[in-house]
Amino acid sequence: MNTPFLAERIDGKGFAADLVERLADDVRDLQARTGITPGLAVVLVGEDPASAVYVSAKHRQTLAVGMQSFVHRLPASTSQAELMDLLAQLNAASEVNGILVQLPLPAHLDSNAVINAIDPDKDVDGFHILNAGRLATGQDALVPCTPLGCLLMLKDRLGSLSGLNAVVVGKSNIVGKPMAQLLMAENCTVAVAHSKTRDVPALCRSADILVVAVGRPELVKGDWIKPGAVVIDVGINRIERDGRSRIVGDVAFAEAGHAAAITPVPGGVGPMTIACLLANTVTAFKRQHPLVTQPAAAAV
Ligand code: GUN
Repeated sequence: MNTPFLAERIDGKGFAADLVERLADDVRDLQARTGITPGLAVVLVGEDPASAVYVSAKHRQTLAVGMQSFVHRLPASTSQAELMDLLAQLNAASEVNGILVQLPLPAHLDSNAVINAIDPDKDVDGFHILNAGRLATGQDALVPCTPLGCLLMLKDRLGSLSGLNAVVVGKSNIVGKPMAQLLMAENCTVAVAHSKTRDVPALCRSADILVVAVGRPELVKGDWIKPGAVVIDVGINRIERDGRSRIVGDVAFAEAGHAAAITPVPGGVGPMTIACLLANTVTAFKRQHPLVTQPAAAAV
């Protein structure tokens, strides 16, 4: 029996386009008030083709909102000391408000040391241990872009998330863990599933909000999804099907018609990630220029 596909498709592409338009206005306003153009530096080490595509997209979109973009492409043979030197220069550069080192790094480099060498106030990825700690303890943090984009779409669709059961599938530092922290901060009851979880389908079936970020094509089947759930699919997987190359998510989209809403792949979470990176750069700029970008405190 074919059940009708009733789930709303959450339009991440349109949502990101709106956000980017508002950011472009914000950037113009900041320039007018400060005489300074916000700037984002992106560092790419090596020739990973997917990373090169992401970095080019970040460069294009940074320029498109009127910000400065500084892309540093380094050879795969770059040493830890050379990368640390570059980060020290970028930390000190006043025209650079945000710094992102594209991951993964070549295996000989220590990613944690690299991330923690970025000035936390310029850490627009939100991966620095200080930002992770701030997020975990409810303090003002720069928040990782992909989970931030997921949260914005969830709040847009659901309003308050308070009291809802949320299941996050995947416990990466980039998505799963910060996603769980953000949902907890919204007063969700949060469970995180991973490769050692005993019964992932049963846990997923308890979720009012299901966020999947594991990088396994169509892992989550229709009968793992509770009717009326909101599903956020972070996966972007290239597969061969019927002799054609296709991009699919971590959720079997065609089986999810009984969800209330689901992000499609492509066109769901993906476009929100870069939009949130630009938003974080504007946030970082404002925090670095508090006297000219924030209303004066009321006289006491
Ligand atoms: N590689 C895959 N996703 C990301 C991301 O959000 N930030 C960085 N720096 N690298 C990534």
